[in-house]
Amino acid sequence: MDRNNWISAFLMLWLLICVGSSPLSVVVHTSSRVGLPAVLPCSVASHLESNHKPHIQWQTIRDSVFERMGQEQFQGEAYRDRADVPQELLVKGNCSLFLQDVRFSDAGIYESYLVVGGLSIKKRIFIQSVHLAVIDHKDIKSVQTGAELILDLHTPQAEQVIFQNSNETDWAVLWEKDAVINKRGYLKKRDKILILSNVAARSAGTYKVLDSEGLALSTVKVTVTEPVLPKETETLQLKSALGEASMNMPALSLITLFLTFHLMLQTN
Ligand SMILES: *[C@@H]1O[C@H](CO)[C@@H](O)[C@H](O)[C@H]1NC(C)=O
Ligand SMILES: *[C@@H]1O[C@H](CO)[C@@H](O)[C@H](O)[C@H]1NC(C)=O
Repeated sequence: MDRNNWISAFLMLWLLICVGSSPLSVVVHTSSRVGLPAVLPCSVASHLESNHKPHIQWQTIRDSVFERMGQEQFQGEAYRDRADVPQELLVKGNCSLFLQDVRFSDAGIYESYLVVGGLSIKKRIFIQSVHLAVIDHKDIKSVQTGAELILDLHTPQAEQVIFQNSNETDWAVLWEKDAVINKRGYLKKRDKILILSNVAARSAGTYKVLDSEGLALSTVKVTVTEPVLPKETETLQLKSALGEASMNMPALSLITLFLTFHLMLQTN
């Protein structure tokens, strides 16, 4: 083999080793809506020795996320009170990472490792790579005039609700966390929902729930409809039409009328 062939053979081998050992080759993809819990799958069963407390680590490229060895556990700063690998699952070989109240900043690649060895020499065995995508909430609502509009804030991350009237391009701040909001009395916050009472035509438009970074946790498009009560005049007209029909119309017309009503009922 000449020199060039040796180099290409070496490169090929190097590439094979890299691809074979790269965590990227076994990435699992998962997604969660912002504010909800997420489970990042992981199974360590094949590596577990019996009578041994598994020591598991989860990390991202930048941060430590969670670590557990028996009762002892550690949560990374950005994951305080939100991350866990439940012990009862871990002893069975399930090292899945449970995240609560998922944030947009949680999106990315997570890796889990099993730490093995004695006090002096420790070795990390790569277990699983998981890509977490975090998506926003989208909804369409139709509310009747005079009724209540219930907006879901979804998570304690909600800092602000802004509103754009269907006819306008400007956004107005409707609600702000920790601000005195209830000046006009039509807005109430209860737990994780915001209630707008006595909806009017001008309440139609787009509502966005924003987090502290100004990112939209949720977007809701609202249309406002008039209540559909049968009007008295229409009811009377309908009655007289029916009355006439039964008196003067020939049988064929009656059948047509019946079929028409039947169809109307079905399409409704
Ligand atoms: C681990 O436990 C979670 C929650 O019970 C479950 O959804 C998941 O499928 C389990 N994973 C494995 C690999 O057993
Ligand atoms: C938008 O403008 C039209 C015409 O001026 C008006 O009839 C309608 O009620 C407005 N809609 C809203 C949501 O304010």
